[in-house]
Amino acid sequence: MEILDDFGRIEKIDKSGMLRVVEAFPKQCSDAVSLAKHIRLKEDYGGVTRLAVLGMGGSGIGADLLKTVVESQSELPVTAVKGYDLPRHVRSDTLVFAVSYSGDTEETLSAFTQALDRGARIIAITSGGSLHKQALEHGLAFVEVPAGYQPRAALGFLFLPMLMVLDRLGLIDPQKDAILETLTILQALSERYSWKQPSEDNLAKRVAGELLGKVPVIYGSDGLTAPAALRWKCQLNENSKVPAFWSVFPELNHNEIVGWELLKDFTQDFSLVLLRDREEHSRVARRMDITRELVSAHVGKVHELWCEGNYRLAKILSILYLGDFVSVYLALLNKVDPTPVERISLLKKRLAES
Ligand code: PA5
Repeated sequence: MEILDDFGRIEKIDKSGMLRVVEAFPKQCSDAVSLAKHIRLKEDYGGVTRLAVLGMGGSGIGADLLKTVVESQSELPVTAVKGYDLPRHVRSDTLVFAVSYSGDTEETLSAFTQALDRGARIIAITSGGSLHKQALEHGLAFVEVPAGYQPRAALGFLFLPMLMVLDRLGLIDPQKDAILETLTILQALSERYSWKQPSEDNLAKRVAGELLGKVPVIYGSDGLTAPAALRWKCQLNENSKVPAFWSVFPELNHNEIVGWELLKDFTQDFSLVLLRDREEHSRVARRMDITRELVSAHVGKVHELWCEGNYRLAKILSILYLGDFVSVYLALLNKVDPTPVERISLLKKRLAES
């Protein structure tokens, strides 16, 4: 654990500075909010009846976040499209956000082309590539995301502009207070989880230490912490380079709890992380407590981590942000550079060749 308190040693492993980027996330979020004020929206965008977000991986997680935040305060259905084809219900009355950090992700480009063909109203969010080029060619509204990030590290730029656009179009409640609360909490957390905070006073470092050598399984709750659970899993995969899994209450109570019955010796190497909030559905809260009692003897450890804030946006981003720090600290404990994702690059290269 001492390594996490020694910036000289951290820098030797974290060669591309992922920890610094994570620490600067609150600033990125406030920059993203400012950026969104300058998006040139078309007049007919306000009359849409549904939303769709196209995006994969680090560019796709914003879709899950947006769905959870928007569907709790508006009648607009939000569809996350994480594949090549658009569902049939995406039509000309749909506002489509096409999100790809590189602008060259083939699934997103395929779905984007279909959205163009159907006459959907489209806003592109990208740092460049083909998506940027096509957005210019077709005269679409777009958000130009700063270059130089890993897609997953640009979450503020990829997600918050969508929320701000919906606010500007009057499609959701005004976001000002929620944004303010979120930025305040994120700033406080950035300091609390910073490498400068010694391990004994730093929840992110402590959780990373407890996950070392374990297979993390992250459980969130439907309509609340589920997208944060997904983000935790993805960040643990990409930053810490470990297998990780996620699931959602209450659905997991109807199948996954049975899976913790056999292989007890093997599953001692798994750690459960429950993402909790004081406003989760009372029955979900009870389910989490009972689940914990039922499975705790079958896993190495159960961690309960709590959201902060009052607005849903703040709650979800606060618990998500903890996971981002944990994933980087776990990478450092594993002595791997959190930034490169060689397997993803290799896979994309081989696909491009075929
Ligand atoms: O984190 C990553 O690098 C990936 O999950 C990418 O985000 C994903 O492959 C999609 O690429 P892009 O974000 O450029 O559309």
